[in-house]
Amino acid sequence: MSFTVADNLDMSTPAAKRAAYDTLNAQLQSLLEGERDRIANLAQFSALLYQALPALNWAGFYLAQGETLVLGPFQGKVACVRIPFGRGVCGTCAASGQVQIVPDVEAFPGHIACDSASRSELVLPLRAGDQFLGVLDLDSPELARFDEIDAQGLTRMVATLVAGTDWTR
Ligand code: SME
Repeated sequence: MSFTVADNLDMSTPAAKRAAYDTLNAQLQSLLEGERDRIANLAQFSALLYQALPALNWAGFYLAQGETLVLGPFQGKVACVRIPFGRGVCGTCAASGQVQIVPDVEAFPGHIACDSASRSELVLPLRAGDQFLGVLDLDSPELARFDEIDAQGLTRMVATLVAGTDWTR
């Protein structure tokens, strides 16, 4: 298979950034077409984001097992494996179900530093209906890298991923 990822997306203005997420969501739909395997799709999603989005040092998933998040497919440096709900940025997202945009991780109480290069973080919940599946976690070496446009664009991409994936196995 040959697949070209748009890795020179213009995100310099709010309008350009919204359009870039439209492009990425369309790419994601093509990338996942015909494949519903959970590990394959989570791995491809992580790779797509890591390749296409500027200024990331980690992109990937933690999946819910009971009240614990367990490391899933990701791109970046090795990371902590188990995070209890309520701990750190990921655990706060899991416990609250709310998107976490953290402009400065050092100012977030309980932040778990997996990579000391990380300065800001975005964490989104994954849900299929009322089932909580886990979180998508993005880290950046830049302060305040993530904003509402990222959160909205990635929420749409996560919805594409969840709809295109078999979560029963
Ligand atoms: N910083 C996260 C832990 C996961 S790593 O960033 C990959 C947190 O505080 O939940």
